[in-house]
Amino acid sequence: MAFTLPAGVLDRPTPFYYYDLHLLDQTLAALQRAARPRGFQVHYALKANTNGPVLAHIREHGLGADCVSGNEVQRALSAGFKPDHIVFAGVGKSDAEMNLALAADIWCFNAESVEELAVLNELAGAQNRKARVALRINPNVDAYTHPHITTGLDANKFGINISDLPAVIEKFETLTNLELIGLHTHVGSQITNLTVFEKLSHKLNELQTWLEDRGHFLPHLNVGGGLGIDYHAPDTNPIPEFERYFRVFEKYLVRRPNQQVHVELGRSVVAQCGSLVSKVLFVKRSQQTNFAILDAGMTELIRPALYGSYHAIQNLTSQGEAQPYDVVGPICESSDTFGRQVLLPETRRGDIVVIRSAGAYGEVMSSGYNLREKAEAVYSL
Ligand code: LLP
Repeated sequence: MAFTLPAGVLDRPTPFYYYDLHLLDQTLAALQRAARPRGFQVHYALKANTNGPVLAHIREHGLGADCVSGNEVQRALSAGFKPDHIVFAGVGKSDAEMNLALAADIWCFNAESVEELAVLNELAGAQNRKARVALRINPNVDAYTHPHITTGLDANKFGINISDLPAVIEKFETLTNLELIGLHTHVGSQITNLTVFEKLSHKLNELQTWLEDRGHFLPHLNVGGGLGIDYHAPDTNPIPEFERYFRVFEKYLVRRPNQQVHVELGRSVVAQCGSLVSKVLFVKRSQQTNFAILDAGMTELIRPALYGSYHAIQNLTSQGEAQPYDVVGPICESSDTFGRQVLLPETRRGDIVVIRSAGAYGEVMSSGYNLREKAEAVYSL
């Protein structure tokens, strides 16, 4: 179905983010239909989008919260996520952030280094608490995605290397304010090759056998997030392939009796429900190309500039003959380009251009560079 905006929305000043909460609900329903019968627990990765109405819908569908900063933990709590549905991950948690999460008695810390474990143990002791911990393991599994969003290789800063695991497990004996409850991994984002999750399952199976041989049973496994979406066809594929994704883990991950498996998805939950809506300021013709200059730029959506990522771009107001345009923003950087040689119907000043699949890692990564104002968020009813 072709993309349209509800009447009245365009009375707002551009640029703005538009969120289709009906599509978000459909996505969440599809996600839980695939996860629940298979016994998977889903935590939503707040880093993808932290807007209040978005979080409210996500919580209503029974997801937990995966946070990577103290402020995200606080945002999750104020959005009504129960502390025992909140996990806190991140390679560099500050003492203040850990203290906040300890005081809130969140369900689990995903710990990423020996030093972090020692500090968390000390801070938990000072609060007279016992913190539940999952070890984030770096499984050295290639996610076959953009290098900037690959996290599970030895070269990446994330997680505890498998070779360090014996020492970490030994150290746990002395960390009396910590309770080791699980293993955590996250190998990357926008993963479309599902054999990555098959390989990850095999790695986790090996790790579990290794731990069991040493007398450790961990009741929780967290396989992270990363499921990709179809940036090329947001209208034909608005809902990600949750069934196929969970089937991979169901088939290859050997779950122990009474063991819980958790996933922490961000992009696949919220990307397709959000669009960046902008107006064409000018059309400039050069020898080489036509530039469609929008009033939205890399300050609102940095993904194309930062990762060279593709987003579908549509002109909602013109019926003219298709022509190629370099679609750019107003920021003083040549990387402020949303797409090159994009075929659009003949485009003029004042036309409305939308950049699709921008609900994840769009608004949250916006900046005030060039003293730009923060774009408003508008929601469908
Ligand atoms: N869990 C951990 C530990 C993570 O680091 C991430 C994402 C997720 C879960 C959620 O991953 P997802 O399901 O959204 O793929 N700004 C980049 C994406 C960065 C992802 C960072 N970590 C982008 O715009 O593509």
